[in-house]
Parts: sequence; structure tokens; C-alpha cells
Amino acid sequence: MNDFDSKKHWEHIYTTKALNEVSWYQPVPSTSLHFLEQFNIPKTAKIIDVGGGDSFFVDHLLDLGYQNISVLDISSAALERAQQRLGDKATKVTWIVANATTFQTTERYDFWHDRAAFHFLTQEAAINQYVHILNEHIKPGGILVLGTFSEQGPKKCSGIDIKQYSEASMTETMAPYFDKINCMTVAHATPFDTLQHFIFCSFRKNNNCI
Ligand SMILES: C[S@@+](CC[C@H](N)C(=O)[O-])C[C@H]1O[C@@H](n2cnc3c(N)ncnc32)[C@H](O)[C@@H]1O
Repeated sequence: MNDFDSKKHWEHIYTTKALNEVSWYQPVPSTSLHFLEQFNIPKTAKIIDVGGGDSFFVDHLLDLGYQNISVLDISSAALERAQQRLGDKATKVTWIVANATTFQTTERYDFWHDRAAFHFLTQEAAINQYVHILNEHIKPGGILVLGTFSEQGPKKCSGIDIKQYSEASMTETMAPYFDKINCMTVAHATPFDTLQHFIFCSFRKNNNCI
């Protein structure tokens, strides 16, 4: 899918579906919070939630006292919804409307989180671009947490194709810039009483390619 279509698709989703009318709705992002705790991420760490949409991850980060949070999404409507929900607290967050495959910044992040955005990249060129951006924008030693549909998960989401990952294929995709730390499979209960099978893996950025 090209960039223009992708943006149009996601703006349409976020202007026509309510928060709990999408399969990825998750009031408590427990797996993501588990990784934050596992790595004992300091409250001053630079954190980015990529493809964050109007997820509640940012709400939990703020409640936990994190001070340096960015949320990036291709859809401005998604970020506006999250901002409205947060009210005054939204001013404590940096909101970035951008395509994750072309995102440019001088910032370098300590913790990069992506739940269910990366798997929408199905073309090798876009995947390579995203991995290049991860390498550029995560500090050496920084942590990457990626959650995608697993090989037991759906083949489509929100009406569009996704790419499934296994522990091995995700690890291979992130090499040579990232060393895998650990992975877990998760069955996400959707608001429609169905299960979606995810794999979440964490990685540490290595110093091989600086
Ligand atoms: C399935 S939703 C997941 C949202 C959120 N991460 C969550 O867990 O609730 C996928 C999100 O990725 C965003 N997205 C898709 N492709 C993107 C891209 N190339 N760059 C940035 N965001 C993208 C969509 O707008 C949407 O908010």
C-alpha cells in the first residue's frame, strides 16, 4: 500500500469507528506495560509509541510519571482523539503526525514501542525503511518493543493485508542492528469476543553499525 492510501485509510477509520469498535481496542496495554517494567525504564527516558493511534498506552505512561513521551501516527484524527481524551494532560506529550517509514527527527529514543503498526508494512522496501529509521532514531543500548500478529494471527486487519511474524522472522528482520532479548505470544481479546494472536519481542540496539 502506498503512503497516500495508507493515510487516507487510517483517517477514515478514526473518523468513522468509535474507540471500542476496532479490534485493537485495549484499555489496559498489559503486555506493553510488562516490558516497561521488565527493563525498569527510568521516568526521564525518551519514549515513543509509534503507530500509537488513540491507544491507552500514553495514559498509563503519564500516570506512571513518565516525563518525555511522544506518540506518532499517520492519522491526525487518531492523535486528536487521544488528545481530547487526555484533556490538559495532552500538553505533556509530543504528538507527531508522520508516516513511520519516512519519519525524520533529531531526537534519539531510549524506548521505542510499536503495537500493531509495523505489521501493516508488507513491502520489503517499506520494511527496510522502517528498520533503517529504527536504527537511526534509537540510542545505542536503547530498547525496541514490537508487537505484531503472529503466524497464528489474522492475515488482515482493518480490511488490509498485514505481515505475520514469528520469533525467528522478527529477529532476522531486526538484525543486524538489534539483539533480541525476549519474545512472548499473547492472545488479545477483541471487543467482538474473538482472539487475535500476537507476538511481542523486545530488542536492544547494538553498537555494530554506528
Ligand atoms: C491496529 S492500530 C494500533 C494502534 C495502537 N498501536 C494500539 O495498540 O492501540 C494501527 C495504527 O498504526 C497506524 N499506522 C499504520 N501505518 C502507519 C505508518 N506507516 N506510520 C505511522 N502510523 C501508521 C494507524 O493509523 C493506527 O493507529
